[in-house]
Amino acid sequence: MNKNQKKVDNETGIGRILIAPSLLSANFACLREDIKEVEAAGCRILHLDVMDGHFVPNLTIGPVVIESIRSVTDLYFDVHLMIEDPGSYLKAFAGSGADGITIHQEIDADCMKLLKEIKGMGIDVGISLRPKTQVDLIEPMLDLLDRILIMSVEPGFGGQSFIPGSEEKVVAARRLAERVDREIIVAIDGGINIESAPLAARAGATELIAGSAVFKGNIGDNIISLRKSLAGSNRVD
Ligand code: DX5
Ligand code: ZN
Repeated sequence: MNKNQKKVDNETGIGRILIAPSLLSANFACLREDIKEVEAAGCRILHLDVMDGHFVPNLTIGPVVIESIRSVTDLYFDVHLMIEDPGSYLKAFAGSGADGITIHQEIDADCMKLLKEIKGMGIDVGISLRPKTQVDLIEPMLDLLDRILIMSVEPGFGGQSFIPGSEEKVVAARRLAERVDREIIVAIDGGINIESAPLAARAGATELIAGSAVFKGNIGDNIISLRKSLAGSNRVD
């Protein structure tokens, strides 16, 4: 287990569920302020969405922005790469201060090779699945994974609605994760709000990624509401 994984494990503990705000819905004119509010609310993870206009029909941030915000916070950075060719940019994202890098199973590249490369850089390894991708496809990767990220919307944009039934995929991912003798985080991303968060948590997600439900309105109040919605759904196993 590398040092970054430990950082998450210390915060997670058994049975705890973390909210990971997705910066995509933040106010990009005030990133420092928004990040400080996330910290003040007690969050430990910041989810950073990178899009290339090819794998998904949208463009967002790259290593330069991540490096800039790295200098204002110690939050754990999970970098979600929605890009067709992550291999060409892994070193740049590692250098920018990523603690975890998550790539997509559906890219036209050798995922195993990329995951090994990420691990070799001392960074937590994640694989993400689009809504229509079967969870069992990642079984051969289990030994490498620190995080399985289930997309509960089509990747590309914040503010979409949670696809009903996504929690079934969380159950399947959790079942796979339990096969290895160490923690694999099961994260869910897309349309997470006070209605969908408890569904995902009860299904076995331990990291709830939320963009608009955190950043639209009062950040601190939104995070409290999300936590309240989870009351009673924390796993205690
Ligand atoms: C979508 C991104 C998500 C997005 C979530 O492709 O991966 O992380 O920011 O935003 P909400 O929570 O608004 O669906
Ligand atoms: Zn994301």
